[in-house]
Amino acid sequence: MRPVNTITAHVLFSFTSLVLGSPVARHESVQFHPLFARQNIQTPINASLPNVTIFATGGTIASQGSTNTQTVGYSIGLGVQQLISAVPEILNISNIAGYQVSNVASGSINSTISLKLAEMINEELAKEEVSGVVVTHGTDTLEETAFFLDLAVKSDKPVVCVGAMRPATALSADGPLNLLQGVTLAGSEAARGRGTMLVLNDRIGSAFYTTKNNANSLDTFYSTEAGQLGFFINQVPYFYFSPSVPIGRTYFDLSNVTSLAQIDILYAHQDMDPALFKASYAAGAQGIVYAGVGAGGMPGKADTAAEELFNATGLPIVASHRSSDGFWFFQSSEGQNFTAVGCYEGFSV
Ligand SMILES: *[C@@H]1O[C@H](CO)[C@@H](O)[C@H](O)[C@H]1NC(C)=O
Ligand SMILES: *[C@@H]1O[C@H](CO)[C@@H](O)[C@H](O)[C@H]1NC(C)=O
Ligand SMILES: *[C@@H]1O[C@H](CO)[C@@H](O)[C@H](O)[C@H]1NC(C)=O
Ligand SMILES: *[C@@H]1O[C@H](CO)[C@@H](O)[C@H](O)[C@H]1NC(C)=O
Ligand SMILES: *[C@@H]1O[C@H](CO)[C@@H](O)[C@H](O)[C@H]1NC(C)=O
Ligand SMILES: *[C@@H]1O[C@H](CO)[C@@H](O)[C@H](O)[C@H]1NC(C)=O
Ligand SMILES: *[C@@H]1O[C@H](CO)[C@@H](O)[C@H](O)[C@H]1NC(C)=O
Repeated sequence: MRPVNTITAHVLFSFTSLVLGSPVARHESVQFHPLFARQNIQTPINASLPNVTIFATGGTIASQGSTNTQTVGYSIGLGVQQLISAVPEILNISNIAGYQVSNVASGSINSTISLKLAEMINEELAKEEVSGVVVTHGTDTLEETAFFLDLAVKSDKPVVCVGAMRPATALSADGPLNLLQGVTLAGSEAARGRGTMLVLNDRIGSAFYTTKNNANSLDTFYSTEAGQLGFFINQVPYFYFSPSVPIGRTYFDLSNVTSLAQIDILYAHQDMDPALFKASYAAGAQGIVYAGVGAGGMPGKADTAAEELFNATGLPIVASHRSSDGFWFFQSSEGQNFTAVGCYEGFSV
C-alpha cells in the first residue's frame, strides 16, 4: 500500500480535534539524555562548523548480521555512539551531539516515541547554535515518522531522516554514506526552508511525498509524481529548485498533546469483508481511514457497512485510496454527509 502519506495526511488533517487532548504535564516518563555530547575530548567544538544533532531510533542502519553477506534476518543493537564512530568523517564537517531515542525496528515506533521526538526536535532547533537535526530510523515506517515530523516541527532548519537497507556488517552497507549525507544536509544552508527530508541512496526527497517502494532494493525511496528535491554528488547536496514546501502542508502545534487518537486504516479490495468497519469501532478506533480502490471508492457491501457505522455512531470515516498516485475523488452515493472530509496530497476538500 503506497499512499501512506496520503492516509497519514487524512489522519492528521481530519482528526485534529480528537488528537488535541487536554493539557497535561508532558511525557514525564520518557527522558532522553544526549549520549554523545557535542563537547568531548575526541571532538572539541570547531566553531566554524555547523552543530548537528542526531536522534537515533534503531532500524537496519543500527543492525548487524552474523556474516557480511547476510542482508535479511539481522538484529538491531548498535547505539548512536557506534553509528557516529563508524563514520568519523562526520566529525570533520559538523559538531555532533547524539540522543538515543529508542533502538527498535521501525515497526515498533509508536506515537509516544514520535510525539517525544517531535518535542525534542522542536527544542533542539530552537537553539540558535543548532543548524539542523538527523533522525536515524528503520526504513519500513520511515515515511510515517518523516511525514509526522514535517507536520509537527516548526522550523526552517533542516530535519533529515536517514536509514539503511543493508545492515552495518554487510558488504556495501549503505548506512554510513546515508548518515554522512544526512549530516551534511542537516548542516547545509541550502537545505533550509524545505521541510523534513529523507536521504538515502544519494536522493534527497520531501517527507511530504516520499515513500518506500521496494522491500529489498537500496533505491527504494522516491516519489513518482512529485519527484525528488535533489541529489548528492561527491557528498555535496544539489537541489533542483529553490526552497519551497508543498501546497497545503499544515503545521500542527502538538506542544500540549500527550497522546494520539487510535485511527485504524482499512485496505479495500474485491470481496472486502464489511464487518471490518464495525470490528474496528468495537476495538476502540476513534476514526477510520480507508484506502479505497481507484480514486477512493469502496466495494459495495463495505461501502454500506461504513455508512451504517457512520449513521449509527458518527465515527469519522475518511476516504483515501490504495492507488499510489492521483487525486482523491469520492462522492457519497446519496449526497448525505458520510465521508465528510477528504484530502489528497496537498489539497483538502
Ligand atoms: C574547523 O573547520 C574548518 C572548516 O572546515 C577547518 O578549515 C578548520 O581546519 C577546522 N579547525 C580545526 C581546529 O580542526
Ligand atoms: C556551533 O556551536 C558553537 C558552540 O555553541 C558555536 O560557537 C558555533 O557558532 C556554532 N556553529 C554554528 C555554525 O552556528
Ligand atoms: C579530517 O580532516 C583532517 C584535516 O583535513 C584530515 O587529516 C582527516 O583525515 C579527516 N578525517 C576524516 C575521518 O576524514
Ligand atoms: C510506545 O512504546 C514505548 C516503549 O516500548 C512504551 O513505553 C509506550 O507505552 C508505547 N506507547 C503506546 C502509545 O503504545
Ligand atoms: C499549551 O498550554 C499552555 C499552558 O496552558 C498554553 O498557554 C498554550 O496556549 C497551549 N498551546 C496550545 C498550542 O494549545
Ligand atoms: C445513513 O443515513 C442517511 C441519512 O439519514 C440515509 O440516507 C442513508 O440511507 C443511511 N445509510 C444507511 C446505509 O443506512
Ligand atoms: C449531516 O449534515 C447535516 C447538514 O449539514 C447536519 O445537520 C448533521 O448534523 C450532519 N450529521 C452528522 C452525523 O454529522
